[in-house]
Amino acid sequence: MAETPPINYGIALVGSGSATPKQRLTNDQLGLRVDTSDSWISSRTGIHSRRVIGSGETLTGLSVRAAQGATTFARWDPESIDLVILATSTPDDLFGSAPQIQAELGAKNAVAFDLTAACSGFLFALVTASQFLRNGSMRRAIVIGADQLTRWVNWDDRRSCVLFGDGAGAIALEATDINHDGVIAFSLKSDGSRGDCLNLPNVQNFQPLVEGLVHQTGGFLPIQMNGQEVYKFAVREVPSILEDLLSGSNVAPETLDWLLLHQANQRILDAVADRFSIPKTKVLSNLANYGNTSAATIPLMLDEAVQDGRIKRGDLIATSGFGAGLSWGAALLRWQGPI
Ligand code: ACO
Repeated sequence: MAETPPINYGIALVGSGSATPKQRLTNDQLGLRVDTSDSWISSRTGIHSRRVIGSGETLTGLSVRAAQGATTFARWDPESIDLVILATSTPDDLFGSAPQIQAELGAKNAVAFDLTAACSGFLFALVTASQFLRNGSMRRAIVIGADQLTRWVNWDDRRSCVLFGDGAGAIALEATDINHDGVIAFSLKSDGSRGDCLNLPNVQNFQPLVEGLVHQTGGFLPIQMNGQEVYKFAVREVPSILEDLLSGSNVAPETLDWLLLHQANQRILDAVADRFSIPKTKVLSNLANYGNTSAATIPLMLDEAVQDGRIKRGDLIATSGFGAGLSWGAALLRWQGPI
């Protein structure tokens, strides 16, 4: 007689992968383009260089490489994947780039779609994928965070262009026994009433269509950002959502193995870590090398720390993403590795 499946499955984080562009742009090189300096950028943000997609590379290509890395790490046959979600605000195709990734990955049995929530996108996608696995309707999911904000930066605006870079990261999630759950708790939030401090708005350009009618032309303006407002939002909301998550899960901050925040600014990482008295050694940071890669920062950082052996099987990770929308979220995760 077949076993009755459990109503609720656990979700195991079983693989990770990442990919970054070849071109590296240093602060000194940026100083040749706008009135800035390595000392200003590194002291205000912690960023030393960022990667920029160049000719011969695409965001879809980076995403495929990241997804392949996670699939191989998890020791999966691509045809066993049920779901591919691409978190991005900068797809190569506005209709969605996830199906292209699904095809190139060989995940021919998977449904694939894009999800947009700016720098919170990866976390929102991770939680979305988890719901399909949790309720038993799917077994294996690849969640990718990838962005090419260098396409939408005003390279003559020193207040914003120094912050952003390109990259892709991915994780593999597998439905497992509820007692081995790796997505322990989460919280997601949005506040559109504060959305005007960070936008990538469309162009308001109307052209004649036929007599008496107009149509809007496609296109977007460069990123518009009020840096100080975004900074204040991050240092207020991230500690608050993490505090609620930890206390709601009865997890003391000192029992965390890692704090894995969206990599926007080292000062934000330091402020959040100080609030919970988490030592610097437990705060994952690679923004010195990549800047803010938006939806990619969390899986890019996760993969780096898994690959170099810092994150080990069973480690408890508090993560938080935040950005445009405004949107923000947090999750308490346990790293598993291949089952
Ligand atoms: N180089 C040199 N000087 C600069 C630069 C630069 N790159 N940028 C700004 N300045 C100058 C300004 O012109 C200003 O000079 P002024 O006083 O003569 O006018 C001075 O430095 C201070 O400017 P502030 O904007 O007050 O600088 P601040 O200390 O706030 O740092 C920063 C700016 C780094 C952008 C900070 O506000 C920040 O990190 N904010 C968060 C931004 C962020 O994380 N955005 C992404 C969110 S995630 C997403 O969804 C995409």
